Amino acid sequence: TKAAASVVEEHISRAEREDEEYADVDWDNLGFSLVRTDYMFATKSSSDGNFDQGYLSRYGNIELNPAAGILNYGQGLIEGLKAYRGEDGRVLLFRPDLNAMRMKMGAERMCMHSPSVQHFIEGVKQTVLANRRWVPPPGKGSLYLRPLLFGSGASLGVAAAPEYTFLVFGSPVQNYFKEGTAALNLYVEEVVPRAYLGGTGGVKAISNYGPVLEAMRRAKSRGFSDVLYLDAETGKNIEEVSASNIFLVKGNTIVTPATNGTILGGITRKSVIEIALDLGYKVEERSVAVEELKDAREVFCTGTATGVASVGSITFQNTRTEYKVGDALVTQQLRSILVGIQTGSIQDTKDWVLEI
Ligand code: COI
Repeated sequence: TKAAASVVEEHISRAEREDEEYADVDWDNLGFSLVRTDYMFATKSSSDGNFDQGYLSRYGNIELNPAAGILNYGQGLIEGLKAYRGEDGRVLLFRPDLNAMRMKMGAERMCMHSPSVQHFIEGVKQTVLANRRWVPPPGKGSLYLRPLLFGSGASLGVAAAPEYTFLVFGSPVQNYFKEGTAALNLYVEEVVPRAYLGGTGGVKAISNYGPVLEAMRRAKSRGFSDVLYLDAETGKNIEEVSASNIFLVKGNTIVTPATNGTILGGITRKSVIEIALDLGYKVEERSVAVEELKDAREVFCTGTATGVASVGSITFQNTRTEYKVGDALVTQQLRSILVGIQTGSIQDTKDWVLEI
């Protein structure tokens, strides 16, 4: 019939499209908003906690039981990692094993079953391969992968969900902030803390993000790029920014808040520390008093989505402290080495990149 023929035709034209090297995207104007790609990957756990092999399906809405653990009791974790297309055409993932292990740690904290490290990486790889045409050309950004783990099984009373879903989707992205690569102006939030001791600040629980949206909205409405949070206990130490870790540069020393349970152990954070140590900098992971912001020459934020972003100023109460930006040499050096390794232009001697 005519209808069947048109279905077949559509299928063929889709297959042809998906064979193309690049999707139809304005690669010069990517920000960090969702671009629909072709496929997503999903697998579900059974009651013994083992996940089925999983499969790719067309990217689209998912169906959930209204009593699902994620909807009622917040059993949910996110991850974030990027696939880069190198100048030589290779597609590279950066340290996906660390994302997999972080998800496992988070799952333990949230009483959830989680896929193995291998299974996590396999799901991410399949998602990238199926969406290869959405990986931006070299220098134009990356395919941001968002693995999710959530309670999909139903429970009416407060209890761990009987079933979990691991799902991976992606979106091509470039700069996280609307500022692009311009320096960030941060506002120190004194009322709302991001995390508290014994809470979930150290894992990538979805519930770490909702509670800070109002503080972010207020800061953004006053022209700031983002919020820097203080510790909940004393309100005297800086912790992190809404979606990134923070570093201060003081001479040859680089200082960042220690991961004591309230700070998210960022993979970019960890990698930047390792690069800085290799370069001969001294790195201090410790409590960082808000007063110390005045003594830093350079300040930068790190994150998978953020990259290594220069901070131009930080406003605390009524005092605005400014930092070196154009000649922020330490920040620039760390950024260029990290990006070089991630994109394959600097040889990976640490076994950090995974070619797919
Ligand atoms: C990331 O850097 O990948 C994040 O997860 C931060 C944010 C977008 C939630």
